[in-house]
Amino acid sequence: MTLTLSDLIEERISRRGAMERIAATAAGVYALSGCASRSARVMNQEGPKVPILGFTAVPHEMDEFLHVSPGYTAQVLMRWGDPVLPGAEPFDPYQQTPEKQAGQFGFNNDFIAFMPLPKGSQTATHGLLCVNHEYIAPDLAFPEGTPVSSESVSIELQAVGHSVIEIHRTKKGWATVNDSRYARRINAADTVIRISGPAAGHSRLKTIDDPSGKRVLGTFANCAGGQTPWGTVLLAEENFHYSFSGTGEGTPEERNHARIGLKRTKQTRWSRFDPRFDASQRPTEPNRYGWIVEYDPYDQESVPVKRTALGRFKHECATTVIGSDGRLAVYSGDDKAFEYIYRFVSRDKVRLDKPEANRDLLDDGVLSVARLSADGTLEWLPLVYGQGPLTPANGFNSQADVLIETRTAADLLGATKMDRPEDVGVCPISGRVYVMLTQNKKRTAEQTDAAHTRAQNLGGHILEILPPKVDGKADHSAERARWDVLLLAGDPSVPEHGAHYGPRAQADDWLVNPDNCAFDRYGRLWIATDMAPRTTGTADGLFACPIDGPDRARPRRLVALPKGAELCGPCFTPDARTLFISVQHPAEGSTFDKPSTRWPDFRADWPARAAVVVITKDDGGVIGD
Ligand code: FEO
Ligand code: CA
Ligand code: CA
Repeated sequence: MTLTLSDLIEERISRRGAMERIAATAAGVYALSGCASRSARVMNQEGPKVPILGFTAVPHEMDEFLHVSPGYTAQVLMRWGDPVLPGAEPFDPYQQTPEKQAGQFGFNNDFIAFMPLPKGSQTATHGLLCVNHEYIAPDLAFPEGTPVSSESVSIELQAVGHSVIEIHRTKKGWATVNDSRYARRINAADTVIRISGPAAGHSRLKTIDDPSGKRVLGTFANCAGGQTPWGTVLLAEENFHYSFSGTGEGTPEERNHARIGLKRTKQTRWSRFDPRFDASQRPTEPNRYGWIVEYDPYDQESVPVKRTALGRFKHECATTVIGSDGRLAVYSGDDKAFEYIYRFVSRDKVRLDKPEANRDLLDDGVLSVARLSADGTLEWLPLVYGQGPLTPANGFNSQADVLIETRTAADLLGATKMDRPEDVGVCPISGRVYVMLTQNKKRTAEQTDAAHTRAQNLGGHILEILPPKVDGKADHSAERARWDVLLLAGDPSVPEHGAHYGPRAQADDWLVNPDNCAFDRYGRLWIATDMAPRTTGTADGLFACPIDGPDRARPRRLVALPKGAELCGPCFTPDARTLFISVQHPAEGSTFDKPSTRWPDFRADWPARAAVVVITKDDGGVIGD
């Protein structure tokens, strides 16, 4: 039987504690009407001031252009191939080389962090833009289609990773600072990265190139990420498996590689020219990817570090928050159908008074995985060697084994299989946690559960986690929390989508396939979508969505992207008056020669280019007001 959202909400409400019911009923707000009930109750409990959205929604359409709401301006700031490092050559898509790419902005920008200058300030007009480059799409990058040569693979290895650029706001808009001392490229070819934490130095991380198991060249598949309260940036290594061939057949890594998704593919573009990416020859190499990477953008010479304590899987993100006990929680989704939601809690408290004391804070702590029950309880199950089934009998001989094979460990603990957990946002006002579940076409009717009420989940949904409060602050290290569903995404005019929004949502107030997200300082959730063109034929974009007040769960579109593009990395300046977005893979599904859009340059012979776009309000006001 497939339960409806209303059934489940009713079931959970019926089990809630007497005090909660009495308080809610006394407030006269406990209508059993899905999303509405939570909004009214939360508003009465916490009394937040809910800012009103003041912009006109961009229609659900799609063409070759980027659209923003009237009264807003979108400015292209950085595109694939634009110079980053001093002396970098200008972009020429017909004359690209690894050497040129090494100094230029990478391909398919994703996560964005705005890090104010000076460090530690709340400056909103000058800072570092720290940007992930997730992957390269050869059909759109190379004029000859998908070339496979040593040279083209070297270009690819240089085109992924991360960029740091210095930017400032001028009277004419935002501009990059030339020859900045902060300018940096991190790539998959030759950036030296340290491995730290419980798995560092383990034999399963040692290779012929690195007998120490503590040093790896490069990072890639950097999807979303996070930033820490002490001024460092976190990069999430996500779909690294696509670059490897082989499964380590006949080696002790076979189970591990199969679980993480490595295929028996004979060759990938990368493995053909770089033996590092052939797991048949080098079965431990894949174990050196799938981690969270931390680096200091304020120090150009700083060595990035893979923090193994946060586990190894297809990390979508690394969203941090200081909990009521002063320790750091890092939330992350594992972006694959039927995978899990994780939380790391540091052993030590964050020292805001002494940032350098947090340098290795992410090396010690407990990683947990979420199990959701139909009564609205969420349990965080610790992934600790020796506890429960995480023992030699199941192939775990150390904490390093648990962290290298995080997914298998989570399977054994009975975690809840989710519909592709992507980005996570933490509301700065309430401390509530929001998880974007992008979709899961594979879920059958028999596999529906309280947190996944739809088989063939086409539109995705958004999970809300409510940590308990201690002295009014959210306790992000508690063993249990409550959970709810903010909205079931989909087009309400398509019955098969089974969409469900807040009671004030109008016909056009909908979205599909929530992926990345961000909160502004006023506690509004901003949701970026991926794959809307495939689900509904409309453009991906960015939606503002109140999570409190009468407009709770009523999304409104601010940005619509050009054909083929996915919106990633939404990021606000501290004053919420500038919004940065990543326009990733415009023209996806077409080719360099015949792209479905030539955004943003619209030069007759040039391909589409992924880019960072700056959005400001023409009156200088707060985005969304
Ligand atoms: Fe790279 Fe899950 O998006
Ligand atoms: Ca994503
Ligand atoms: Ca995605």
